Amino acid sequence: MLVLGIESSCDECSAAVVEDGKRILSNRIATQIDIHKPYDGVVPEIASRTHTEWIKDVVEGAVSDSGAALTDIDGIAVTNRPGLIGSLMVGLSYAKGLAFASDIPFTGVDHILAHMYAAQLEYDIEYPFIGLIVSGGHTIISVVNDFDNIEVLGTTIDDACGEAYDKVAKYYGFGYPGGLIIDKLAQKGDADAFSFPDPSLHKGEHRYDVSYSGLKTAVINQLDQFHNAGYEKTPENIAASFQKAAIEMLAKRLFKAVGDTGITKIVAGGGVAANSYLRSLLSEKNNLNVYFPSMLLCTDNAAMVAGIGYHYLMRGDRAGLDLNAGSRVAGFKKNYP
Ligand code: KG4
Ligand code: ZN
Repeated sequence: MLVLGIESSCDECSAAVVEDGKRILSNRIATQIDIHKPYDGVVPEIASRTHTEWIKDVVEGAVSDSGAALTDIDGIAVTNRPGLIGSLMVGLSYAKGLAFASDIPFTGVDHILAHMYAAQLEYDIEYPFIGLIVSGGHTIISVVNDFDNIEVLGTTIDDACGEAYDKVAKYYGFGYPGGLIIDKLAQKGDADAFSFPDPSLHKGEHRYDVSYSGLKTAVINQLDQFHNAGYEKTPENIAASFQKAAIEMLAKRLFKAVGDTGITKIVAGGGVAANSYLRSLLSEKNNLNVYFPSMLLCTDNAAMVAGIGYHYLMRGDRAGLDLNAGSRVAGFKKNYP
């Protein structure tokens, strides 16, 4: 089955053709990074306007790259939540129009579940596993029972992990987007220069939750307070110390989830899953099986949407033309074991 995936939830305009939920035949990703750079962040109105200009070429390009014709496409999967509503509407409306005009079945896909599926495009990973979604909008530690079934163990109680990266980078003028830039700076810095705090949230029912607002405030407003004598306050040292605190907070909760559930398989997804420190910290644990998607599949892309969409379409899920976009995730339970 050939599925055309369409992704436009934030600032990446992407379309892909994936065979049987596994084989990527094409994956076009048109990024708006340069357009939003002057603002040090994504401007929603500009993002949706740009999607409107790009979507036709991106979708047609992805179909042509795949070597298939539109008439060969068996189903369309489109991200319809969560994300920026104007951006989502562009991909969703385009998918609806194409599905209707070409008489192709289509389904809506949750962007978070699609990130969780991304690693399945490159590996055969049996369920259940511990899932880690870390992106600009979400930070979720969960037990993943199936492609459409995740039990949330912990989330952020304030900012998402990637958001903290972006805000720290914006404040210090490191550049945009912040995550990759801080990751690169950190590799040249000394993480002992500052001892930023880890919030003690792991009490009672909140033991898998994280919080990035306190860390962000510490890095931005209380730098001197956490500075260790003998180290310079360079961008590299700030980046390295922030990155250590941000990533080790996640790792601590993840290892706790592994210990409590007995599940030793971890699968990561989302933009921050591209982080070099997170990848090395988890990969050096010999008692764990850790899967990271390749870099291109960590950040927003339509291959993950087409991949998971195959499973919905295979079991007969069909969206109607009344399918709406939603800014928030739907249907996740927060379960504390
Ligand atoms: O998944 P994604 O492309 O979009 C959302 O769904 O949010 O994630 C984007 C986020 C941004 O916050 C970006 O700064 C962060 O992922 N990011 C990184 C790295 N690469 C991207 N954060 C840390 N280290 C990286 N190497
Ligand atoms: Zn994303």
